[in-house]
Amino acid sequence: MTQLTFPENFLWGTATSSYQIEGAAREDGRGPSIWDDFCRLKDAIQDGSDGSVACDHYHRYREDVALMKALGLKAYRFSIAWPRVLPAGRGAVNPKGIGFYDRLVDELLAAGIRPFVTLYHWDLPSALNAQGGWTNRDSAGWFADYATVVVKALGDRVKDWITLNEPWCSAYLGYEFGMHAPGYQDQALASKAAHHLLLAHGTALQAIRAAGDANTRVGITLNFEPNLPASESEEDRRAAAEAFDLLYEGFAEPILTGAYNERILARMAGVEIRPGDMAIIAGRNDFMGVNYYSAKLISAQRGAVYDDDPEFTRMGWAVRPAGLYAILMQLHRATRGRLPLYVTENGASFADQVVDGRVHDERRVAYLRAHFTQAHRAIQDGVDLRGYFVWSLIDNFEWSFGYQQFFGIVRVEYATQARIIKDSGYYLRDVATANAVL
Ligand code: FCB
Repeated sequence: MTQLTFPENFLWGTATSSYQIEGAAREDGRGPSIWDDFCRLKDAIQDGSDGSVACDHYHRYREDVALMKALGLKAYRFSIAWPRVLPAGRGAVNPKGIGFYDRLVDELLAAGIRPFVTLYHWDLPSALNAQGGWTNRDSAGWFADYATVVVKALGDRVKDWITLNEPWCSAYLGYEFGMHAPGYQDQALASKAAHHLLLAHGTALQAIRAAGDANTRVGITLNFEPNLPASESEEDRRAAAEAFDLLYEGFAEPILTGAYNERILARMAGVEIRPGDMAIIAGRNDFMGVNYYSAKLISAQRGAVYDDDPEFTRMGWAVRPAGLYAILMQLHRATRGRLPLYVTENGASFADQVVDGRVHDERRVAYLRAHFTQAHRAIQDGVDLRGYFVWSLIDNFEWSFGYQQFFGIVRVEYATQARIIKDSGYYLRDVATANAVL
């Protein structure tokens, strides 16, 4: 068997986000966020839970960093809670909030782990939501000011910055479908939020470069769900190529080309797009983060096809590893290979069981192996892929699903907060150590 070896210096890591793991929601001066508020709404969260304790990572970060080190991981993507740093979203900085991330970064560097820091993974300060949140055009400036505070505090040690995580989710799940905070159901608000999130990204690019040094690298993480042809037939391939893809067309495309296409503009009716906005949105990125979980199958006859799949995860997401290859190639072609890429999230939720103190999660291992193989194939075909962050380091608060989804390569026993490395964790360790798909 030939070994699928990755390029030298390829980064293997895991990803998490602040609200999903930290807990300590009312500690050390942290202000409320829209997720604290949203979790209190009736039936918003499937198991009625919230992130107030979560994985207690705020107190256990040393143990969690030690886990990563034991697994031989060289990179870690985590996010900063805006309301810890600026409890009211703007104005007074909370030194204790910054202090936590300061210690976390030092702990990571001492363990030889490179931090990739996401500035916004959905926990907007409630005080800003009271002023319209992302539907207020001023949000771009609020975000850039917050980014400046963080980069000034940590930029001597953190060199890799991600502005936003999955702005599609912030805009559409949050303002149109009501499934995420702040829980609104209004298409016009969602389009506004989408434009302002992109503007916030572009404005923050400039702010981060101004606050950082010459080695500062900035990018954005987008979620993708590419359209794959349901068969190899010419008509299915054409149908897939022509099918609407809001994730790509609404977010990646304006960032890469500086323009909304006609289909997006039709949805943007009523959004104020000022001269100069698109140039800001298309500011130069040093890399792009790709979050990939599934793809859509498109048939010329039947449209989107959902029932042909051999396997679904506990989230109900079809397992389609080929989509990872497809989106990496699509981005590679769109940027003529000039924009380095990272897989900033990929992973799967399955119902795990502890047997004799071990978690034999062979389905998650198979899922990861299949996706790593597609990433390797993309690199062989020329894609400048620099690293791969598995979602997630530990089981955590999965938004509106609460604690009923399990994405970790490490299990969390919530009653005791004990961590148990799953077989997938050992598998990732072996892959990272060999720098090859095993
Ligand atoms: C992504 C989110 C991440 C996690 C995974 C499963 O959309 O960025 O926080 O919820 O899905």
